Amino acid sequence: MADIEIKNLCKVYDDFTAVKDSSFKIKNGEFFVMLGPSGCGKTTTLRMIAGLEIPTSGQIFIDNKDVTFLRASQRDIAFVFQMFALYSHMNVEKNLSFPLKMQHVKRKEIKERVLEVAKILRIEQILKKSVNGLSSGDRQRVALGRALIRKPKVFLMDEPLGALDAKFRDLMTKELLLLHKRINATTIYVTHDQLEAMSMADRICVMNQSEILQIGKPLDIYRKPTTRFVAGFVGSPEMNFITMNGHLKKGQSEVFFKDLKISVPKIHEDLDEDKVILGVRPENIKIDNNGNISGKVIGVEYLGSRQLFMVETELGLLTARAHSKENIQNGSNVVLSFKTESLILFNPKNDKAIKSDLYEDSNV
Ligand SMILES: Nc1ncnc2c1ncn2[C@@H]1O[C@H](COP(=O)(O)OP(=O)(O)OP(=O)(O)O)[C@@H](O)[C@H]1O
Ligand SMILES: [Mg+2]
Repeated sequence: MADIEIKNLCKVYDDFTAVKDSSFKIKNGEFFVMLGPSGCGKTTTLRMIAGLEIPTSGQIFIDNKDVTFLRASQRDIAFVFQMFALYSHMNVEKNLSFPLKMQHVKRKEIKERVLEVAKILRIEQILKKSVNGLSSGDRQRVALGRALIRKPKVFLMDEPLGALDAKFRDLMTKELLLLHKRINATTIYVTHDQLEAMSMADRICVMNQSEILQIGKPLDIYRKPTTRFVAGFVGSPEMNFITMNGHLKKGQSEVFFKDLKISVPKIHEDLDEDKVILGVRPENIKIDNNGNISGKVIGVEYLGSRQLFMVETELGLLTARAHSKENIQNGSNVVLSFKTESLILFNPKNDKAIKSDLYEDSNV
């Protein structure tokens, strides 16, 4: 069990800054997900926490102890890499017991812990098998088992499900969460997959270009993104971004596109730009005969219980989501409205969300 605190962490390679002034706290037992596109600095952050990389500046605390310059082996952390390596000359049981042998744990205890971990991961029946012949799913379990068996204070996982196919990934996501509930070790999990992050995290830390943009609970990140980047990165299909007339005044609760009025949550600041960007998630667009946005459906895509439909409107092409039971015909004319309380405005100059009633009473 461990609390982790990162203070102003930086990593510079030659003249390239891979991690820029990162600060965050992770509570004991939390499942904390670092999310961001390729190259944004996720692995570098994780490697510094693990003790595999020395920070250029900043500090790392585990349970209030400064571990910034401690070796990896002194930090009681287990690491699962995306490209995990198993000892191919050993069978599954020996792969699992190896970390404990290195710690000089007694044979009887090793045996018990191997069985315990094998049970959790449901690999009891393959303990005697060579790892060479295993499916990638089983190999992944063995790699996880080897990290789990140490009962570390902290788990660091760098895209541990990256190599798996979609169906197995789904299954392993659920298993990892169950596992986390059972053992409750503080976990930092890295992924570039926003769906994985949304479904697993207690809190998500979104990074881009070496910087942390926002940290929050999955639903807060989804509903109250503080930048256009976060708004666009989280959610699939992507949020619709519509350019509206600018020059907004504090207290106003509508925006315009030419003469078309869209009601929005009351805004709390002035905006002096010519334009403003309106963000609308697909599920917050509905077909509504009392609406004021007319358009033509130019595509319908069924996704089981939901359907996506694309509508050409005077605001541009919009992607909307509805229940499959709604009868939406390709080529038909429709009238739309937006769910007012969900709408977000972004300042086009710095891509930051404009403060409004939506963000009231929240820490984001
Ligand atoms: N040893 C190194 N020397 C120079 N540059 C490095 C080194 N390690 C990482 N970088 C650079 O730092 C940046 C961040 O890399 P990092 O591996 O942390 O990204 P990431 O977010 O984990 O990306 P991915 O999702 O692709 O794994 C990248 O541009 C990378 O090229
Ligand atoms: Mg990486």
